[in-house]
Amino acid sequence: MALAGRFPQAWLDELRDRADIVQVVSRYVQLTPKGGRYWGLCPFHGEKTASFSVNPQRQMYYCFGCHAGGSAITFVMEMEHMEFREAVTLLAEQVHLALPEMTGERQEGISRSEKERIYEANRQCARFYHSQLWKSENEPILAYLHGRGVDDATIRVFGLGSTPARSDGATKALLEQGFTEDELVKAGISVKRDGRIYDMFRQRAIFPIIDAQGRVLGFGGRALGDAKPKYLNTGDTPVFNKRLGVFAANLLKKQRNLRRVILVEGYMDVVALVQCGVVGVCATLGTALTLEQARLLKRYAPEIWVSYDGDAAGQHAILRALDIFDEEGVRARVLDFPDGMDPDEFIRARGLEGFETLEPMDATTYRMKQELSAHDMSTQEGRTAYAIACAKFLSKVREPVELENHVKRLMVATGFSREVLLAQIGHTEMIEQSKQPVYRHAARPLETKNEGVDTETAAAEKRLLQLLSEGRVEAGVISAEDFISPERRMLAEKLLSGMTPGAILEEMDDEEQRARAASVLTQDSGAHGEEELRMTGDCLRILHKKRIEEKIAALQRQVMQLQGEEKRSVLLQIQELMKERQTAGRKE
Ligand code: UTP
Ligand code: MN
Repeated sequence: MALAGRFPQAWLDELRDRADIVQVVSRYVQLTPKGGRYWGLCPFHGEKTASFSVNPQRQMYYCFGCHAGGSAITFVMEMEHMEFREAVTLLAEQVHLALPEMTGERQEGISRSEKERIYEANRQCARFYHSQLWKSENEPILAYLHGRGVDDATIRVFGLGSTPARSDGATKALLEQGFTEDELVKAGISVKRDGRIYDMFRQRAIFPIIDAQGRVLGFGGRALGDAKPKYLNTGDTPVFNKRLGVFAANLLKKQRNLRRVILVEGYMDVVALVQCGVVGVCATLGTALTLEQARLLKRYAPEIWVSYDGDAAGQHAILRALDIFDEEGVRARVLDFPDGMDPDEFIRARGLEGFETLEPMDATTYRMKQELSAHDMSTQEGRTAYAIACAKFLSKVREPVELENHVKRLMVATGFSREVLLAQIGHTEMIEQSKQPVYRHAARPLETKNEGVDTETAAAEKRLLQLLSEGRVEAGVISAEDFISPERRMLAEKLLSGMTPGAILEEMDDEEQRARAASVLTQDSGAHGEEELRMTGDCLRILHKKRIEEKIAALQRQVMQLQGEEKRSVLLQIQELMKERQTAGRKE
């Protein structure tokens, strides 16, 4: 993770020392000491018996059920759905460690305190807008919201507001609070024209955009009636970029163990769904879904249900969003409303009950459905074009059983045989493509990849990694080249370079890889006293023997192609290696 480098290493080490993992975890999980560790119910998967353990010596946690593991920092990242940098900042605050100067921020020319001022101006501005909503002169705006079915409780949940009657009302109120003109313009609250300063938002219902940390980033303003533009959003500011965030991230964050996030297009859709009791809803901020937003959303749930407007633009945007989610390895489905309704219209007409009867459609079925309406299925030409179009995305379906279902439907719709359709799809290619997207929070199988390492060597490598992370053996005794599995060799390299196991886990983005690493690095080697040297020797011998065996196997494959003198020489080499293997297996 590139961000990790932005904190000075010595400062991070101090944070890791100060933020005691038992205390950090105890804020979320009730822990009971037993056998030198602390135990509790795992917060990352539902369970009734405690398989979640915290090791105070190593300052690490590990769940024997779902293999989640890591340091105090990764724990906060997981629990709070935070990025590395955010989690570090939160922990630093909790242990009263002053943040170091960040190199990146100086380059941007915006200091941290300048950003803090903008956040504060936004916060005060949101309060001001909210208070304006209840003023009699702004009655049309409150009436507008009520007219769209928004009740007062929901207005408070979202902190909705109204612009003041005066065209510089917000600017004036904030100047009085001590903010400078410069700060207000930078925050996007005010605009300067001909030497005079005005409010950016006028005669609008205001939707504050609040991030997961509760900071007000900016605003969306809905015009009354048909005035243009319908929505006005805060432009780019030092704290806001509409491509990076989502509306209602603050509410999303409060939901634990969400099964899915519902992604809608508009502010009003979020407000209406939440008012009716739907949880885990958010919206993009007036742009097509970006990769950054997809990445952000996958931290909240294993699945995203895309639920855009019923019009043609909305339906087209769904296809683009599905491609983006694919690219990010996020599982996405589509929630389609009958009669081209918007989520907002649907929930107001049918309520939560109606909403809960809707079944989300998987992405492929949705894509096929959209293609169907684009082709004239009454002609052979149309059916052929439809089959070709579907084959393009069917080639990306990785589960054979899923593919089979789609192919069956395609057979019925087009009249082509299974073989012809599979050939069009390029079925053989699909089978070879073994890399699966990684879904966050999905079950975490441990040794899923065939790493070409048998159990004895795997066990030896794991033991060596444990000895290394306990600091029981030094570089010189073990080197990274001793390791056969590339993944464990990489772990060894990092440990040998002086990184702590916690720091190694913190920088791993791949959930499955982190689970595999955690299952090794958080465990004890079990070595006592003198034992560690014997253990190290045993492990190294096992690995040495394995490497010889691999060489022998390679030469044996080679020998079959050879003849005469060449063959004799390779056979001799094999004999030598076999002798060497015998000695290697023996203990000194
Ligand atoms: P829609 O036009 O579907 O708006 O745009 P909506 O949310 O259904 O609006 P209502 O129900 O008529 O109030 C969806 C989203 O696109 C952005 C806004 O974020 C809006 O919520 N948008 C739309 C803009 O930023 N500017 C516009 O002029 C229109
Ligand atoms: Mn809409």
